[in-house]
Amino acid sequence: PRVKGLNGYDYYLYQGFFYAPFFLEGLMAVQECFNPQSTDIFVASCPKTGTTWLKALTFAIFTRSRLSGSTTSSLLAKMPHDCVPLLEYDLAQNPSNRDLAIPLVSTHVPYSCLPKSIISSSCKIIYICRDAKDAFVSLWYFLARLQMSKNVEPLPLEEAFELFCNGIANFGPYWDHVLGYWRASLEFPEKILFLTYEEMKKDTAAHAKKLAEFMGCSFTLEEEEGGEVQKIISMCSFEKLSNLEVNKNGKHRLDTPIAIQNSFYFRKGEIGDWANHLTPEMGARLDDIMERKLKGSGLKLPR
Ligand code: A3P
Repeated sequence: PRVKGLNGYDYYLYQGFFYAPFFLEGLMAVQECFNPQSTDIFVASCPKTGTTWLKALTFAIFTRSRLSGSTTSSLLAKMPHDCVPLLEYDLAQNPSNRDLAIPLVSTHVPYSCLPKSIISSSCKIIYICRDAKDAFVSLWYFLARLQMSKNVEPLPLEEAFELFCNGIANFGPYWDHVLGYWRASLEFPEKILFLTYEEMKKDTAAHAKKLAEFMGCSFTLEEEEGGEVQKIISMCSFEKLSNLEVNKNGKHRLDTPIAIQNSFYFRKGEIGDWANHLTPEMGARLDDIMERKLKGSGLKLPR
């Protein structure tokens, strides 16, 4: 089945989730034949929930311990999305589209649709999610900027909101995406680390340490005392990354079917910006949907 999507593409419903055609093609390819390295770490998320930040942090944390000295130069020169390849696009096109010395791969694929090879191997998954209202507003702006860069009128916000509330978004329904990883994280806590954007914002240092520990490259006492954690947090902050030349307008992310400017991945980086764009009624409606969908799961997303 096909439905009208949010950005000029039809979305296809496949195994309970919606996909733009190029992502569905990529997903089917990796479901068939992707083999992770047993040491791989997957950065998983629904789009617009903090993927870019988490990629930057995991990349910086990993490279600081194994490839000393190259962290800063890499993140200064390369967009976080070009440091960590996307399973259903970059690796679907060519499995060798990665640097094997860096065991990081990202994915937006819902847990239940991941290639079985990932589930059954010993590789780890770090999942990030976010308040649904902020995720929706972030998504709408991202798609609107993308459409406008192609001189196409964006879908009105109200229309996009209606679709989102009906579960229609790339890799949506949003709540099912979150629930899939949440339940799996309860079942396999050593394999899956479940994070929220809001908690990461509140205490980034504690989360950077938690990430390092989960990834198997904890900060040493000397590193902590030497300010390494703070250095990484600052390097990966919204202010720092969004002001880097490589992340500003004009630089296009490599390899995507739709040319995406790097700057589109950096908008405000704040919690609660939804209130500047949605009416209180729209906010209450999405809260109500999320509450009903998450009921009984034990998960309460911070707002
Ligand atoms: P907003 O649109 O609310 O500003 P993703 O990376 O999953 O595409 O999510 C994009 C969202 O993360 C955007 O949110 C973007 O501004 C925010 N973001 C990008 N880099 C960030 C960073 N280093 N720290 C915090 N938020 C960041």
